[in-house]
Amino acid sequence: MENDDLRLVPTPVAAAPIDTDLPQHIAVIMDGNGRWATRNGLPRVAGHRRGVDAVKALVENCARRKIPYLTLFAFSSENWKRPSAEVKLLLELLTSVLESEVRKLHENDVCLRIIGNLSRFSPRVRLLIRNAQELTRSNSSLNLTVAVNYGGRWDVTQACRQIAQQVAHGDIDPAAISKDTVARHMSTSELPEPDLFIRTGGERRISNFLLWQMAYTELYFTDTLWPDFTDDDLAKAIESFAHRQRRFGQTSEQVTAAHRAQNA
Ligand code: FPP
Repeated sequence: MENDDLRLVPTPVAAAPIDTDLPQHIAVIMDGNGRWATRNGLPRVAGHRRGVDAVKALVENCARRKIPYLTLFAFSSENWKRPSAEVKLLLELLTSVLESEVRKLHENDVCLRIIGNLSRFSPRVRLLIRNAQELTRSNSSLNLTVAVNYGGRWDVTQACRQIAQQVAHGDIDPAAISKDTVARHMSTSELPEPDLFIRTGGERRISNFLLWQMAYTELYFTDTLWPDFTDDDLAKAIESFAHRQRRFGQTSEQVTAAHRAQNA
C-alpha cells in the first residue's frame, strides 16, 4: 500500500429499509464548466467557480432526498494536461472548499472521503484531507466521496500492486484471489457500487472514472452543463433510473418473478 493512502477503517453503515427505485449510490462526472463560462462570456475559471455552487446544491439535494452515497469526479489523473493556470486554479478551488466547507459538512452529518493518488499533493493538502476525513468519519447521513487525481486504471493498478505484495509475502495464495479480493483493495472498498452514473455536458463517455465499480451501473447522460445542473435535473436522472430494469445478467422474466416473490 502506498504511504499516501489515507483510507479510513470502515465504519458500520446503519441498516435502513431500501427503496429500490431510489439509487443508493450516485456517481457524477461534472462536465461543462468551461463551455458554460465561454457561453456566458466569462473566463473558464468562472465556470469552475459556478461548478462549486452546483456541487454544494447537489450535496444538499442528495441529503434531502436521502441518497446515502454520492461520489464526484473533481479532478482526473488526466486533468494535469490542462494549461497550468487552470490546473492551479482547480487545485486551489478544491483546497479552499475543503477548508471552508468541512465544518458545515460535519454539522450536517456528512462523511467525507477523498479518493485518488494523493502523492502529488503537498503535505499541507494531505493534512487537510486527513483531518477532514477524521472529523467526519462517524457521520452517516450522506457518504460524500470526492475523487481527485483519480483514474479508474490507477485504482485497478494500485489494487493489483497491493495484492501482488501480499502474494510476494506469502500472505495470499494466487489461486485464492477472487473478484472480492480485488474489490477489497479498490479505493472505494468501503462503498457499495454506484447504482446510477450521471454525466453532464453532453459527452457519452466514462472517461476513466470508476471502471471496476461501474460494471452494472445504470448510465445517464444529459446535455445540461454542470453549472446549470439543478434539483430538477437530478429528479430527471432518478426518474430515468426508476424505469430501468436491472438484470445483472439474468433474464427479464427471472427478475420480474424474483420481484413478485419479494413483494408477495
Ligand atoms: C469539467 O468541466 C470539470 C472539471 C474538470 C472540474 C470539476 C470541478 C468542479 C465542479 C469544482 C470543484 C469540485 C468540488 C467537489 C469542490 P470542463 O472544464 O471539462 O468543461 P468543458 O468540457 O466545457 O471544457
